[in-house]
Amino acid sequence: MKVVSLYLENFRNIEKTGFDLSGGVNVFYGRNAQGKTNLLESIYVFTSGKSFRPAKDKELIMHDKEKAVLNMTFFAENRNNEYDIIFYSDKRRREAKINGVPIKRNMDMAGNFYTVLFAPEHLNLIKEGPGERRRFLDQAISVLKPKYAKAVEDYEKILTQKNALLKDIYKYPQLEATLDVWSEKQANVGAYLMFMRNSYIKKLGEIARKDHLELSNGKEELKLSYIHSGKESENEFYSLEATRSFLAKEISDMKNEEISAGMSLVGPQRDDMEVTVNQMSAKMFCSQGQQRSAVLSIKMAEGDLVYETTGEQPVMLLDDMLSELDRPRQTYILKKITDRQVIITGCDRARYKNIDNVKFFNIKNGTIIEC
Ligand SMILES: Nc1ncnc2c1ncn2[C@@H]1O[C@H](COP(=O)(O)OP(=O)(O)OP(=O)(O)O)[C@@H](O)[C@H]1O
Ligand SMILES: [Mg+2]
Repeated sequence: MKVVSLYLENFRNIEKTGFDLSGGVNVFYGRNAQGKTNLLESIYVFTSGKSFRPAKDKELIMHDKEKAVLNMTFFAENRNNEYDIIFYSDKRRREAKINGVPIKRNMDMAGNFYTVLFAPEHLNLIKEGPGERRRFLDQAISVLKPKYAKAVEDYEKILTQKNALLKDIYKYPQLEATLDVWSEKQANVGAYLMFMRNSYIKKLGEIARKDHLELSNGKEELKLSYIHSGKESENEFYSLEATRSFLAKEISDMKNEEISAGMSLVGPQRDDMEVTVNQMSAKMFCSQGQQRSAVLSIKMAEGDLVYETTGEQPVMLLDDMLSELDRPRQTYILKKITDRQVIITGCDRARYKNIDNVKFFNIKNGTIIEC
């Protein structure tokens, strides 16, 4: 899968631009706050219809403009495809078309074009709390399974409703019957999230383990495990049905505690992905450099898994990432992804001058010039 050309109008600080990309490496360089991350974001939007930043659609449109227009030609399934997206400032819905055919539901925007994004924030994948890791998992799985993206949204809504109810039930005990209805919904959708996350982590972990052994010259054994927050976290989640009855029982066992706490206390919203290196918690015991390597292996594995699942190589989006890594890791990453198209942003171009099939673009104040 490759981006052949891109055209943007009023996307963030980019007023109007259009260019062809190299099928190899593309470097967008420029000073801070010129539009480098915005450019990557515009390409990422084609992956799922959403930004990787927690941005509302409206924020993607240049200030005071009515709409942002994005058009991309990408090569996939042995042919060129046209992908159009328009965001309107006064409408909640975006318009999207592939090869002229409208995409009606937002969830159908996933599964057409694949990218793997690697940004400095991803280093928090190990350092920070479980929320970062859940976000990573949800994004990675959603790209491969649009149904999962929908389930994540549904689950959030169910949880909001249930929590509101749990707050009130103390005062109005007659609401208890309604609570059971919401708990059942929570168990159904929540179990699907848990089951999918668990099986994704198993596959991802296997690939990341191999990548990481290679990256560390056989010295470090990386392991990823799904950690369920509930009492019996050793449960295997071997089937969707087993996960569902497990979660339903757990929610029902916690009912009184949830009522007194006035909020939901169990479910995938509290789960985590544990990362260990040589059987020790990467968060607690790994050096800064080891943590970086572990994240690198996880992200590379994410890309491998896209290829394994879809048969298409994802486009790699590296936001100001290589400058964060030392030389051996930079070399490793660039060598490893030669069969993929790479789009890199950074402050200087000198670093990339010895690469084959590379194209340079300068970004200044939202204007992009091919060099
Ligand atoms: N909707 C918008 N309309 C106009 N300008 C915007 C909009 N959203 C963001 N910007 C501006 O775009 C500018 C460039 O942002 P971007 O994140 O792409 O910078 P960058 O080149 O990646 O910088 P850095 O090197 O610091 O990461 C910012 O100054 C921001 O204020
Ligand atoms: Mg940036």
